[in-house]
Amino acid sequence: MAHLVRFGVSLEKDLLGHFDSHLKQKKYTNRSEAIRDLIREDLVKQQWQEGKEIAGTVTLIYDHHRRELVNKLMEIQHDFGGLIISAQHIHLDHHNCLEIIALKGAARQAQVLADTLKAIKGVKHAALSLSSTGKDI
Ligand code: NI
Repeated sequence: MAHLVRFGVSLEKDLLGHFDSHLKQKKYTNRSEAIRDLIREDLVKQQWQEGKEIAGTVTLIYDHHRRELVNKLMEIQHDFGGLIISAQHIHLDHHNCLEIIALKGAARQAQVLADTLKAIKGVKHAALSLSSTGKDI
């Protein structure tokens, strides 16, 4: 485990009250863990903004009966081969497919991939979730 450092934080009583009820809702057992998560979240956001290497997923919902849709999705994924590290396809029902595409690479490229997939006719929903590779946080 990394070396821990203790430090004091001063903040308004009301704000601390709001924070404590937020912690309860989020099932945190202590303030330190919640503050650590807030700091990490901010650092990860900064990594995205600076275009650093990120890990993430694109989740797609689409109807595989739509003409040419599956081929188009496949073609685009091949074009982003350097970014995509894995893809999982789940047949939700007779019509609908769920696809989870795992990514590792530049945040901007991940956004371009997600936007490109989302814009294809027949894609019902596309969600990009950006996370961290775990380095530097
Ligand atoms: Ni399917």
